[in-house]
Amino acid sequence: MTETGIQLIDRTRAAARLPEFEGLLRLALTAQSRARAPYSRFNVGAAVLAGSGAAYPGCNVESASYGATICAERSAVAGAVAAGESAIVACVVVTPTAEPSSPCGICRQLMREFGTEMLVFAASSVSDAVYAARLGDLLPLSFGPANLTEAQPRD
Ligand code: THU
Repeated sequence: MTETGIQLIDRTRAAARLPEFEGLLRLALTAQSRARAPYSRFNVGAAVLAGSGAAYPGCNVESASYGATICAERSAVAGAVAAGESAIVACVVVTPTAEPSSPCGICRQLMREFGTEMLVFAASSVSDAVYAARLGDLLPLSFGPANLTEAQPRD
């Protein structure tokens, strides 16, 4: 079968697909242990692989004003950008569910800023299961930077 769409694989297969997977997973698991999630008790960790080859961790940080909460994926993206990165090629997110939870819609949209070819691995901290997909498969027909530049002037 050709490798398109969203696949349910395991950690070994994920590592075969992306050599940096294990390092990213380790970083994400450590970040998950540092998550601030006193309201949901749902700790999430993430790690992104930047164009430079460096990896950056993120975790969810919840707020008593619930809507101010930031997810692990966006936290990792922000860390990479703050460190000077302009490209992100992969993201590993870890959730405490046996079937990995995949990134929320807001995170998918922010990740899409870096292109539709980003590899996204949704892993579990309690099982070997991993969902693997291109960002474009998680967010088809997405709105992106090119839509803004293609807009006709309003005169
Ligand atoms: N969460 C993430 O960090 N990433 C996601 O993609 C889904 C949800 C966090 C937000 C909140 O702190 C908790 O998980 C429960 O929704």
